[in-house]
Amino acid sequence: MIEGGRRIEGELRVQGSKNGALPILAATVVTGCTSILHRCPCLRDTDAALHILRHIGCDAVRSGESVIVRADAPQRWEIPESLMRCMRSSIIFLGALIARFGRAELTAPGGCEIGLRPIDLHVSALSALGVKTDERGGKLCCHAPNGLHGANITLSFPSVGATENILLCAVCAEGDTVIRNAAREPEISDLASFLNGCGARITGAGSDTIVVSPTGVFRANEHTIMPDRIAAATYLSTAAVTGGSIRLRESAPDSLLPVLPYFEQCGCVVRIAGDDVLLQSPQRLRAPRLVRTMPYPGFPTDFQPSAMVMAAVSLGTGVFVETIFENRFRHVPQLRRMGAHITVQSNVAVVEGVPRLNGAIVYATDLRGGAALVNAALCAEGETRIGCIGHIDRGYENFEHNLALLGAGIKRIDSDAE
Ligand code: EPZ
Repeated sequence: MIEGGRRIEGELRVQGSKNGALPILAATVVTGCTSILHRCPCLRDTDAALHILRHIGCDAVRSGESVIVRADAPQRWEIPESLMRCMRSSIIFLGALIARFGRAELTAPGGCEIGLRPIDLHVSALSALGVKTDERGGKLCCHAPNGLHGANITLSFPSVGATENILLCAVCAEGDTVIRNAAREPEISDLASFLNGCGARITGAGSDTIVVSPTGVFRANEHTIMPDRIAAATYLSTAAVTGGSIRLRESAPDSLLPVLPYFEQCGCVVRIAGDDVLLQSPQRLRAPRLVRTMPYPGFPTDFQPSAMVMAAVSLGTGVFVETIFENRFRHVPQLRRMGAHITVQSNVAVVEGVPRLNGAIVYATDLRGGAALVNAALCAEGETRIGCIGHIDRGYENFEHNLALLGAGIKRIDSDAE
C-alpha cells in the first residue's frame, strides 16, 4: 500500500547485485573449495540459489550479508523441477554442474513473464567445449563424454547467461577458450574476478573478447559482490519522479554510466562523489528523447520500466524501443490504469507525459515491472495498492523498509500469494 505525493529524500547504501550474486553462487560449485561471499543480497532469487546449492550437496549458510559455501563434496548433478521453477535463471547452474561433474540434468528453464528465454546460444556454445545436450520431455540432459576442451566461440548475440555458462565450463577445460562477442555487463567482470580469485586465469572480461587459460588448480576465496546497478538506478528514479534528492553510497558509479545521462536528459542534476552518486530532481521532469535498450554498455533493459515511469510524468513525449526482450511492456496496462498516456506498437512504446498519475489497484507482472509500479505509486495522487509483490521480492532487498526510511508512505499489507 503506497500513499503518493511524498518526496524521496536521504541516502542509502546500495544492495549487492542480484545478477552478480547468482552466477558467483553457481561458480562456488566449480572450485570445490570454500567460498566466502560478502554483500550477497537477501532476495527470493538468492535464497533459491542457496536451496539449489544445498540440494547439490554443498554446505551453504548465510550470516548477515555474507554467505559461506563449502563445495568439497557435492553429490548431485541434477536439479529437480520444483527447484528450477523457483528461479528461471537457475540455467546458470548448468555450466557449473558440467564443470564439476562432467554432466548435468535439469528441467528446461522455460520462458518467464518477459519472454521465451531460449537457451540455444548456451547449448551451441557448450557443444563447442565438448558437451552433448539432449533435450527431451522438458528435461535438459548434458554430458561431456570426452571431458571439456577449450574452443574458439563467437556468440551471435552477446548473451549474459551464455557468456557466464561458457566461463564456468572453460575454467575446467583442457586448453584455452576464446569468447568473441561476449557480453560486457559488469556482472561478467565480477564473475571473472571471483573465478580468478579462486585460481582461474581469465582475461578480457568486460570487453567483447574474453580468454580463459585453465590452470587446473582452485583455492578457497573471499569475494565482495558488486553493487546492484539496476537497484541503484531504480532508487535514483524514485527520487527523480517525486521531485526529491538521494545519495547512493558504495554504488560503483562506473556501472551506472549507461543510465546517468538519462537522468540528466530528464532534467536531474547528477553528481559522482567517489563511490557515491547524488541526484537532485527538478520539480517537473523533462521528457527523454528516444530510449533504445541495448546490451551493456547500452541502455539496460532492466531499467526500461522505471525509466518509462519518469517519462510518464514528464513534460513532453518519450519513445522507448525494447530490443532485448519480446514481452517487456507488461507494466504498461497497469500504468495506464493509473492514468499514464502510453501507446504500444510491437516493441515501441510512446509515452506522453501527464502532470499526475492517480492511485489505483494494480498488479506486479514481473520483477522490474513491479518496481516501476512502486515508482508510479510514489508520485501518484492518493493511494495505490500493488498486488503480486512476490515478483518484486525476487530482486529488491528490504524495498519497502528502505523507501520508508527515504520518506515514502509505504507498507506491506501481507505477503501476497504469487
Ligand atoms: C540476464 O538475463 C539478466 N539476468 C537479466 O536480468 C537481464 O535483463 C539480461 O541478462 C540482459 O541484460 C541475470 O543475470 C540472472 P541474455 P539473460 O542471455 O542471461 C536472447 C532481471 O530483471 N537469448 O543476455 O537471460 C534472450 O531471449 C533480469 O534482473 C537467446 O536468444 O539475458 C533475450 O532476448 C531480467 N538465446 C536476449 O538474448 C539464448 O541462448 C538477452 O538474453 C540466450 C539468450
